[in-house]
Amino acid sequence: MSEKYHIVTYGCQMNVHESEKIAGILRRIGYEDTPKIEDADIIVFNTCCIRENAENHAFGNIGALKKLKKQKPNLIIAVGGCMTQEKGKTEILKKKFPFIDIMFGTLNLEELGDLIARKKAQKKKVIEIREKEGEIVEFTDAYRTSYPNAWVNIMYGCNNFCSYCIVPYVRGRERSRRPEHIVNEVKALVKEGYKEITLLGQNVNSYGSDGTTGTTFAQLLEEVASIEGDFRLRFMTSHPKDFNEDVVRVMEKHRKICRLVHLPVQSGSNAVLQAMNRRYTREKYLDEIKMLKTRLPEAEVTTDIIVGFPGETEEDYLQTEALVKEVDFASAFTFVYSKRQGTKAAEMENQIPEEIQKDRIMRLVELVNSLTRKKSETYVGKTVEILCEDYDGKKDLYLGRDEFGRMGYFKSDKNVIGQFVWLQITRANGISLFGELQQGEK
Ligand code: 5AD
Ligand code: SF4
Repeated sequence: MSEKYHIVTYGCQMNVHESEKIAGILRRIGYEDTPKIEDADIIVFNTCCIRENAENHAFGNIGALKKLKKQKPNLIIAVGGCMTQEKGKTEILKKKFPFIDIMFGTLNLEELGDLIARKKAQKKKVIEIREKEGEIVEFTDAYRTSYPNAWVNIMYGCNNFCSYCIVPYVRGRERSRRPEHIVNEVKALVKEGYKEITLLGQNVNSYGSDGTTGTTFAQLLEEVASIEGDFRLRFMTSHPKDFNEDVVRVMEKHRKICRLVHLPVQSGSNAVLQAMNRRYTREKYLDEIKMLKTRLPEAEVTTDIIVGFPGETEEDYLQTEALVKEVDFASAFTFVYSKRQGTKAAEMENQIPEEIQKDRIMRLVELVNSLTRKKSETYVGKTVEILCEDYDGKKDLYLGRDEFGRMGYFKSDKNVIGQFVWLQITRANGISLFGELQQGEK
């Protein structure tokens, strides 16, 4: 009987896809997956450190394994991802959780198989964190778990150093994959039957700006969108300092590309944007939205917003509220500023007290929810195309998303996972839509 693995993932889609690569490595060396953590022979934590609560989560869950490790001394516990890449974190992890067997980072993921072999050959723990990013390693055997959706990295790392953000410190400098590797990967995925491809990068608009690929993001998008087949295409994340008309022109030409742009604004106040080192103004942001909606009137925008950044005044916060109302985002991810050691913002003197941060996030969440609820209601009576992703056994309903990422639930006699279907929307509840399956779907 083969040994079993269980992966615990924290954080963003980038990490979810990296866990698929980790799963690919583990399967390559003979492990099989198990949904039950207590049945596993190896448990891998793929951590995130973007906000303190993500770290606390991981700390809690790793700590909870102490007992299991005592019962199963041969169990291998491996910790990787962004947290191990943070300065001084491996020392803390070692002290707090002496039972961790392997630590690896974001820059040497591909070595995990060798690290496991080393651990099996010795009693000592194996800690291998790389400081500098090396050549891009191409993965051909990621074990994908999100059919009919597939994520494809187009680049790694980040050069932007937004003053609050730890990502550039834990993921290294920007590196772009060769366009032919990306195109071939997407072709293969479409051939396998994947129906939604998301191109991933911390700032997709600067794809190729390291000068190594000779291709801009707009050109890459055009190439990928020209691949034959029945699939839709997304990309994230766009940075407002680099988002441009060339990309929108490609969107206009190719109906395969979802009319949705994830364009994190972070704040509606120019003073805060400057302190965040975002390198655009509120006016530039609003101009970009105008340009997008002029060319593509049906386009929608989603965003990320941080409240309680050092120095944010009530006036600054109210400008964020005003911007949210003006843009009318399809949805917004809202965060309380979290102080990250080693970033510029952590050194700023005017940190905002927790009560004020809490008050602002509550007000913002309420505003965002009321706007998305209103938007959902406009769907009632319309017919929308949904890519069916899953079946919810408890509700006895199938579910999937429209091109704007809105979740639609419906009844179906046959399994339609992986198919594009049309729903007549009968009811909206918060951000979810409920509808009736239309016959004669494409
Ligand atoms: N505190 C709060 N939110 C943060 N983000 C990044 N760093 C922090 C931080 N220190 C948010 C940003 C980014 C999203 C992925 O996470 O809004 O766009
Ligand atoms: Fe962080 Fe800014 Fe890079 Fe995004 S662009 S990962 S927020 S530093």
